[in-house]
Amino acid sequence: MVVSTEPRNPYRPGMGESPPVLAGREPIIDRFYLDLEQVGEGGTARETALYGLRGMGKTALLGELVRAARQAEWLAVRVEAESEEGSLVSTIAGGVARPRVVPAGWDQGSFLDRFGEFAARAGIRVTGLGGVDASVRVKPKVSDVRPADVLVDLYQELGRIAIDQRRGIAILIDETQRASVDDLRGLFRAVSEAKTEQLPVITAFAGLLETPELLMSAATSAERVLFEEIGVLDPAATYRALRTPADRAGVIFDDDALDLLIEFSEGYPYFIQQLGSDVWNVRSDPDRITIDDAEIAIVLARRQFERGALGRRWVELPEWGRHVVAAISMLADYPSQWVEVGKVAELVGKTTTELSMTRRRLSDRGAVQTERGQIRITQPGFHWYAAGLVERGEIDLEIG
Ligand SMILES: Nc1ncnc2c1ncn2[C@@H]1O[C@H](COP(=O)(O)OP(=O)(O)OP(=O)(O)O)[C@@H](O)[C@H]1O
Ligand SMILES: [Mg+2]
Repeated sequence: MVVSTEPRNPYRPGMGESPPVLAGREPIIDRFYLDLEQVGEGGTARETALYGLRGMGKTALLGELVRAARQAEWLAVRVEAESEEGSLVSTIAGGVARPRVVPAGWDQGSFLDRFGEFAARAGIRVTGLGGVDASVRVKPKVSDVRPADVLVDLYQELGRIAIDQRRGIAILIDETQRASVDDLRGLFRAVSEAKTEQLPVITAFAGLLETPELLMSAATSAERVLFEEIGVLDPAATYRALRTPADRAGVIFDDDALDLLIEFSEGYPYFIQQLGSDVWNVRSDPDRITIDDAEIAIVLARRQFERGALGRRWVELPEWGRHVVAAISMLADYPSQWVEVGKVAELVGKTTTELSMTRRRLSDRGAVQTERGQIRITQPGFHWYAAGLVERGEIDLEIG
């Protein structure tokens, strides 16, 4: 019988996958621990909103915050906002009612009774509370009560239950950009009223780049939210994200191999996992990763990235935008390098003024960033993707 001793690939490519090492986000996690402590002692904390491009690790970070809260025996859930108006209350109630969410140290029976009673009173239909299936529907009994208003009651009830259990509740809302303004307005009312009553409830958000603006447009109290941009990892964090998982499995990186992968990843978490996973699979020496392995992995990961997320995002760009991104990729030596807008305009055959609308639309999508007459590509990988298209003659720089 052949017994495989090959350790399992430790890297986790793919959206929403928890990474083996969540690197570089320590300040946010540490602050969350402080928030838990403060709010647990009857104080308050500012809400946090994490925003950033796809694949930067927002969901992974929320997952880590859920773990931190659960360690403190808090009831913590991560839910994904949906676009349907009025859905936020059922999303949150459904999250709380999910099986195994109520911490072991809580009085389960009392929690389920109280939450169930509240749900019935508020017109929230919860099936399978604490069981396997938790489908929730809100049908406010009084017709002039809107689901967004029920959020206030939901927060009050959850907060009081948490006080009786001597713990707290953490509600982490992912994909916030999908939520309706009305629902968010209701949520901010729920948050403020819970704070007034010193209820131990913490709320955090994660979403794409438009999230801060959306929250601010929903409620003036969103001004106090702590907005944290979740961007690429610095080289030291990238080093840890790549090296530690291999280390733990007894596999050593040659220095030049690791350096090459760090540089090529540009610190983009999604890409770090893809590269790690590919280099793991292609290595020829089971105990060691060499520069040759790294070079092969780059080709593989790059192809995968181009056919998947990157290619999709590229075709989502408006026609003009593609020329602009391609022009920047020709002018900048390195993706994070700024180039003068004037030079980009010249290359695409437009004036700076003519370019300003496209520029705005591109930065709304997170593809570029502009500052004081300078512009740069923010989406990791776009620069080599675009440069490749130009080289192969698949795109002209000049806008026709
Ligand atoms: N801090 C980190 N260190 C290493 N890898 C990470 C880190 N954060 C996330 N990752 C990895 O990056 C990939 C993308 O993470 P995640 O799905 O959390 O991104 P996201 O910002 O939520 O993306 P989206 O906006 O598409 O939902 C996953 O493979 C995850 O394991
Ligand atoms: Mg996500």
